[in-house]
Amino acid sequence: MQELETKRLWLRPFKYEDLDRLAEIFGDAETMQFISSGTRTRSQLEAGFPAKLDRFERWGFGMWAVIEKASQTMLGRCGLIYLDGTPEVELGYTLHKDYWNRGFATEASIACLRFGFEQVGLDRIVAIAQPANLASQRVMQKVGMKFEKNAHYYKTDVVYYAISKNEFHALHG
Ligand SMILES: CC(C)(COP(=O)(O)OP(=O)(O)OC[C@H]1O[C@@H](n2cnc3c(N)ncnc32)[C@H](O)[C@@H]1OP(=O)(O)O)[C@@H](O)C(=O)NCCC(=O)NCCS
Repeated sequence: MQELETKRLWLRPFKYEDLDRLAEIFGDAETMQFISSGTRTRSQLEAGFPAKLDRFERWGFGMWAVIEKASQTMLGRCGLIYLDGTPEVELGYTLHKDYWNRGFATEASIACLRFGFEQVGLDRIVAIAQPANLASQRVMQKVGMKFEKNAHYYKTDVVYYAISKNEFHALHG
């Protein structure tokens, strides 16, 4: 399983020891306000954990735990999943609110996109967000994704952004 490194972050596979911290992040109503599934309890997260750990083996990609190098703190998650049961691959991210607006999601996302294009061999990666989730859309824009359409996924109206492998390499080398 692949670990990724950026200037300020480690991206590593999740472990069962992460569940308490994940429950803190995913149990917070403000953090989950634009996520259609809403807040999740520790037991819900624990029930879904085995299938999530398995993703890298099944798919070749998944969600990483995002660790700040300086503090060794787990900030949240970032990574790639299939978009709502489609063959398209979606970039996703959720961080603890104490760490918002410091560029961490953008930094982690660029590493995940690079992994998707260079290691998995994807030609295109998409991202979706509820229209009111401006922070999420700003991350999409900062990594170089372009708005393509309004769409409907996860039973929710969303904006849909995308970036191609060539566009990514033109921007990020
Ligand atoms: C979306 C999220 C991961 C972004 O993480 P982050 O580390 O704060 O992202 P970054 O710091 O890289 O960039 C955030 C950008 O959004 C901007 N932003 C934040 N809140 C905003 C708001 N309410 N309106 C407009 N822009 C906003 C920031 O100013 C920053 O842009 P800038 O660098 O041009 O100033 C974080 O807000 C989060 O975890 N939200 C809850 C979970 C979630 O909604 N996930 C996405 C589901 S689609």
